[in-house]
Amino acid sequence: MKPKVFVTREVFDETLDYLAQYCEVESNQQDMPLTAEALAQRLAEKDGVVCCLTDRIDAGLLERCPRLGIVANIAVGYNNIDIAACTARGVMATNTPGVLDDSTADLAWALMLGTARRLTEVESYIRAGEWTGWRLKQWLGVDVHHATLGIIGMGRIGQVIARRASGFEMKVLYCNRRPVANEIERRLSATHVSKDELLAQSDFVILQVPYSPETHHLIGAAELKKMKPTAILINSTRGGVVDDAALVAALRDGTIRGAGLDVFENEPRLHPGFLELKNIVLAPHIGSSTEATRRAMAMTAAKNLVAGLTGGMPSNLLNPEVKEA
Ligand code: GLV
Repeated sequence: MKPKVFVTREVFDETLDYLAQYCEVESNQQDMPLTAEALAQRLAEKDGVVCCLTDRIDAGLLERCPRLGIVANIAVGYNNIDIAACTARGVMATNTPGVLDDSTADLAWALMLGTARRLTEVESYIRAGEWTGWRLKQWLGVDVHHATLGIIGMGRIGQVIARRASGFEMKVLYCNRRPVANEIERRLSATHVSKDELLAQSDFVILQVPYSPETHHLIGAAELKKMKPTAILINSTRGGVVDDAALVAALRDGTIRGAGLDVFENEPRLHPGFLELKNIVLAPHIGSSTEATRRAMAMTAAKNLVAGLTGGMPSNLLNPEVKEA
């Protein structure tokens, strides 16, 4: 008998076709986000689940799904999954690293360039029919080229962001729990500094750390005060890494110049202050959202799931202890 699996949100036809070769598949192709209760009901008799960052997989849910053997997240971040609870119940958990590095780095760059050159402000101005002609001092932005870029979190995506900086002849600073290998530093022309030094020296600060209790409000009022008043903050990693209320205040009172944001605390409900500010560029958590990358992410999750359910080793297993037990 084929294992029974549930796909919690809409995916691509080829994802479902692939899964159907190995599993009996139910899916939420209507794409309505499921409540915790609805999710528990849909998963009660399932052997595996392909889920998304909008699904909370915790001890309470696992308790109600005794057959569940694998949770395959369509995301590189997995703060929606309680990994310890999965491990305690012998449930494999997987994510989708690698396939989204370039697209996510591109979006961080788009936010950086868009905020520096005020693209959303000027577009609104044109659409409102307010452009009456060219002026020398109109819509002055700041340069990205030759500026100092500070990357907090130098994992795979941080490194891709840094690699793109060489084309803009930027100085690259980074901080990370541990410095990356000398050879990578050399290749990226990146210098490891303390967080305080990075905040004080950077013209652009990009956050690329995963969200966890340790990174909760990594950037709050105190850190924003350490930044240059001309600096721009980019958050394309996870809401909660930044204290959004503190950021709204800092943008309002000119503590920093601007921000480019793809992720928010409590998204999709934004801090209302963001909507009143002009010196920001906002995006609805689309870091990895290109056609090719989202297809690749969904297929990676499906392959992880099938490997786990057919006795193989999923390529992106987050808790290998479960297989070793
Ligand atoms: C998207 O936010 C991801 O973690 O893949």
